[in-house]
Amino acid sequence: MLNSPEILGLGEIVVDWVAQIPHFPKPDEKIDSFHQEIFGGGVTANFLVATTRLGVFSGFIGAVGQDENGEFLIKDLKNEGVDTKYTYKKGDLKTPVNFIIVASNSGEKIIIQSPYMQYSLSIKDLDNDYIASSKLLHTTAIYHELTEEAIKIAKKNNVKISLDLESQIAVRGWNKLKKIIQNVDVLLPNKEGAMSITKTNSPKEAASFLTKKGIPLVIITLGSQGALISTENFQKVISSYNINKVIDTTGAGDTFIGAFSVAYWIKGWDLVKACKYANAAAGIKIGKLGARTGMPTHKEILAFLEERNENLF
Ligand SMILES: Nc1ncnc2c1ncn2[C@@H]1O[C@H](COP(=O)(O)OP(=O)(O)O)[C@@H](O)[C@H]1O
Ligand SMILES: [Mg+2]
Repeated sequence: MLNSPEILGLGEIVVDWVAQIPHFPKPDEKIDSFHQEIFGGGVTANFLVATTRLGVFSGFIGAVGQDENGEFLIKDLKNEGVDTKYTYKKGDLKTPVNFIIVASNSGEKIIIQSPYMQYSLSIKDLDNDYIASSKLLHTTAIYHELTEEAIKIAKKNNVKISLDLESQIAVRGWNKLKKIIQNVDVLLPNKEGAMSITKTNSPKEAASFLTKKGIPLVIITLGSQGALISTENFQKVISSYNINKVIDTTGAGDTFIGAFSVAYWIKGWDLVKACKYANAAAGIKIGKLGARTGMPTHKEILAFLEERNENLF
C-alpha cells in the first residue's frame, strides 16, 4: 500500500440508524419496521469508502466525537482501508447520528440529519504535506473556512479539487460560496443542490449557469435519470441503468462521485466512460440497504456492465 493517500475527503462522517418500513407513515401512525440497522455514513466518508472498494488508497480529514459511536466509525473506516491519520477525536460534540427511514414500496428515503455535524476543526488541523502529496481533494464545504484553506493548499500543489454541493450547504447562497465553487476542477451536486445554489428551475439551466461562471466541469446527478455533464463545449445526459429492485438510494450520489473520481482523475478515462462507470457503480449500490453496503468492487462493476452488454473497455 502507498504511504500517502491518492484521494482525500474533507467533510462529514456520521452513524446512520436505518429502518426499512413498508410505506411512509402519517403523523401519529405507528408502524413496524422490517429492518433496524446501524451503519457508518456521512457523505464524505461514504465517498471515500466507494473509492477504496475500487482499489484506491484514500484518507478522511474530519472528526468524530470521543464516544462509542466515534470509535465505531473510525474502526469501520480502517476496516475499509481508509486512512484515518487526520480523523480527529474531538470532545466538543457527540458523534452525529442520522436517522434514515427507507420505504420498501418505493425505495425512497427520508433523512433526519443530526445537529452535531460540525466539530471545532481549525486551520491548524490541516497538514499541508498530506494534501500536497495527494492527487484529488474532495469536499462538501461543510467546514467553510477550512475548505477555503484546503483549496488554497491543493491549488498551490496541483492537486485537483472536487466539490459535492448538497442543498443544506447550498442555502448559504452563491455570494458566500462562490469563492469555493469557482476554484474547483469539478462540481458534482445532485439536482436539488444544483438548482438551489443557482436559483434555477432545471438541472440544464443550473449546469449552464455554473459553466458560465467558469467552472470547467459540472456533473449534476439526476437520480434515476443518470447524470448531466456540462463543460464550456457541451452538455450531455448519460442515462442511468435500469434497476429492477431499488432497495435504498442512500449514498447513491456518494458512490457515483467515488467511482467517477477513480475513473476520471486516477485512471484518466474520458468523461463519458467515467460517467457510465459511475452510473453502474451507483446502480449496483441501490440494490442493498445502507449507504455503503452495496458499494461495488471494480470486478462487480465489470460483471454488471457485461450483463447489460455495455462495452466500455
Ligand atoms: N432509481 C435509480 N435507478 C438507477 N440509478 C439510480 C437511481 N437512483 C440513483 N441512481 C444512480 O445514482 C446516482 C446518484 O443519485 P442522486 O439521487 O442524483 O444523488 P444523491 O444520492 O446525492 O441524491 C445517479 O446519477 C444514478 O447513477
Ligand atoms: Mg449526494
